[in-house]
Amino acid sequence: MKQFGEFGLDTLNECLWRSDKPIALPPKPFAVLRYLVEHSGRLITHDELLEALWPETYVQPQVLRTYMLELRKVLRDDAGQPRYIQTLPKRGYRFIAPVMESANLAEPIAKSISEPALQVAAQGEAPNPIVNRDEEITSLKSQLELAASGQRQVVFVTGEAGIGKTALVDAFCGQAASRCAASSARGQCVEGFGGKEEYYPVTEALRQICASPEGDKACRVLARIAPAWLAAIGRESIGSTQPAAGSRMPGDLCAALEEMVADQLLILVFEDLQWADDATLHLISALARRRTHARLLLIATYRPQDFATDHPAKGLKQDLRMRRLCAEIALAPLARAAVRELLSRELRQEELPPGLAGFVHRRSEGNPLFAIAILEHLMAQDFLVREETGSVARWVQTAPDKEMEASVPEGLAQMIELQLARLEEQELSILEAGSLMSVAFPSWAVAAALQRDPDEMEEACQNLTRRLYFVERAGEDELPDGTRSTFYVFAHGLYREVLWRKQTEARRARRHTRIAERLAELFAGREGTVARETAMHYEAAGNWQRALSALRTAARHALDRQALAEAAELLERALRLTENLRESEGEVAACELSRDLESVRQALNQAQEYEHTTSGKA
Ligand SMILES: Nc1ncnc2c1ncn2[C@@H]1O[C@H](COP(=O)(O)OP(=O)(O)OP(=O)(O)O)[C@@H](O)[C@H]1O
Ligand SMILES: [Mg+2]
Repeated sequence: MKQFGEFGLDTLNECLWRSDKPIALPPKPFAVLRYLVEHSGRLITHDELLEALWPETYVQPQVLRTYMLELRKVLRDDAGQPRYIQTLPKRGYRFIAPVMESANLAEPIAKSISEPALQVAAQGEAPNPIVNRDEEITSLKSQLELAASGQRQVVFVTGEAGIGKTALVDAFCGQAASRCAASSARGQCVEGFGGKEEYYPVTEALRQICASPEGDKACRVLARIAPAWLAAIGRESIGSTQPAAGSRMPGDLCAALEEMVADQLLILVFEDLQWADDATLHLISALARRRTHARLLLIATYRPQDFATDHPAKGLKQDLRMRRLCAEIALAPLARAAVRELLSRELRQEELPPGLAGFVHRRSEGNPLFAIAILEHLMAQDFLVREETGSVARWVQTAPDKEMEASVPEGLAQMIELQLARLEEQELSILEAGSLMSVAFPSWAVAAALQRDPDEMEEACQNLTRRLYFVERAGEDELPDGTRSTFYVFAHGLYREVLWRKQTEARRARRHTRIAERLAELFAGREGTVARETAMHYEAAGNWQRALSALRTAARHALDRQALAEAAELLERALRLTENLRESEGEVAACELSRDLESVRQALNQAQEYEHTTSGKA
C-alpha cells in the first residue's frame, strides 16, 4: 500500500482508500494515479504517460486532462494550489506529495469486523461496481452472515444470458473479500465436449482452493479425508501412506470441505449450471443437504431459458427449494433509470444525450450485455462521438433516433454478428480459432489452428484486447519448450457461441486437428498430461481413431497416478466412440477396450472394498 496524505493506494487490489473508506475509481484514472504515485517527485510528460498506459494505441492527449479533473475531484486537490498533482503547463504532471509504503489498510478493517455477525457496514462500503443490484447484494450479504455463523447456504442466481449473473457474483465476492475476509473459489461449467468431463467445475474450484494462501491446509485435509480428490487435481498426498486410488466420492469431498471451512468462511461459486455434468450436480445436491456446521456459501448461476424440460439442475433446484434448503435470486432486466446509470458509467458522463437512455433501454429490453453492445455499436458507427469544447470533452449524438434505430438489430446474437462483421478477415479468424477452446484460448493454439507464426499471433491477440471490449487477456502459461504464451477469454460466452457457429463443420474440424497435433508436438514425451485435451480436439474434429488413441493415453496416464475412476471414465468414453468406427475396426477396438475397462473396474472395486474395510476399522 502506498500512503500519501489521508489516502492509500492499494496497487494489489487496485483500490484507493481515504482514511479507512474505499473510493470508487475506474480502471484508467486509477492507472494514471498509480503511474504518477509510483514515479512521484519527477516530471511525467504527456507522452510518457500516454505511452505507459496506452502502448501502441493513439490516444488524444486531451483524455489525460479529463482524467486529471476526475482525479483532482477524488483527491480534493486544487489545480491552483496542488497538494498532490501539479500541472506543468505544456509539459506534463508531477506527483508532489511524499509517498510512503505501508501495510495493507484493508487488513485491520477486515479483522475489526465482529464475526459471526459480520456487520457489513453501510458506511464506507465500496460502491457497487454494477448498477441496480443493491437489493440482490444485500440479500447475498444476509446469506453470507448466516454462512459465517455456521449455517451453510445455497443460492441460485438465475436469469437470461447477459442479464448480469456473473457481474453480480463478482461484485459480491469482491466486496466480501475486502470486508470480511471470506475467500472464494469458482468452478465454471463448460458447454460442449469439454463439459462431458466428470466434476470439471468442482476440480477447477478445488485447484483454486489448493493454490490459495490457505492451500497447504486444504491439501492436508484432502490428503487425509478425500485423497482421490487430491489426486484428481494432480497433487500428491504428501506423507500419506494410503493409495490415492478409489473414486471421487461426493461425501468425502463434502466432509473435507466442511473441515476446511471450520475457521475460514468460503464462497464457492459454480457458474452456468445449464452445462453442468451430472456428477457435479450430485455433489451440489449432497453439499446442500448435509446438516453439519459449515461456514460455506454456495452460489450457483444458470440460465433457466437454456434448460430442457427434464434438465437435472431444474429438478435439483425445485427439490431444494421445496425443502427450504436453498434460495433463488432471479435477476430482472434493468429499468430505464438503471440503463441510464449504466450508460453514464460507461461513457463517464453524468448527463447523456437526450433520448439515448430511453433508446438503449427499449432496444436492449434492459439486458446489460445488449445495452453495452448497442453503446459500442453506436460509438463505432459514429452515432455517438466525443466532442471537445475548451477543456471539456463530452459524448454527443450525431443522428436522430430514427437513424440509430434502423442500424441496431433486434436480437443480441444479431448484434454480436454485426460487431463481428466489422472486423478484418484475420481478426475474425483469430477469434473463430479462439472459440474452439472451451474457456480460455492460448495464442499458441490460435497460431496452430490458423497455421501462422506464434509470435505474430501473440501480438495480434494482444492488439485485439486493446481494440475489442469483448476479448480479455486472462493470463500466461509456460510451455514445455520454455516459451511463454498468453491466453485470452471472451468477456461473454455468447461471443464464443456466435463465433463457433460462424465456422463450417469442415473448417472447425481442420482447425481442431491442427490444435491437437500441435499439442502432441509441444508435449512430446509427456503426451499423457494433455491427452484428455488432445482427445477432445480429435473428437470435435470427428477423427475417431486418433481420439481413441488419445483417450487410451489419457487412461494410461490416469492409471499411472492411481486415478482408477478417471481411467474407467476415459475408457468408457473411448468405448462409446468405437460406435463411429467401421464395423470390423470398431468391434476389435471395442473388444480391447472392454477388456481394459473390466480390469480397471475390478481394481476400482478392490480399492473401494479396501477403503471400506479400513474406514470401518478406524
Ligand atoms: N448491473 C450491471 N451493471 C453494470 N454492468 C452490468 C450489470 N450486469 C451486467 N453487466 C455487464 O453486462 C455484461 C454481461 O453480464 P454477465 O456476464 O454478468 O451476464 P451473465 O448473466 O453472467 O450471462 P451468461 O448467462 O451468458 O453467463 C458484462 O459486461 C457485465 O459487466
Ligand atoms: Mg455468466
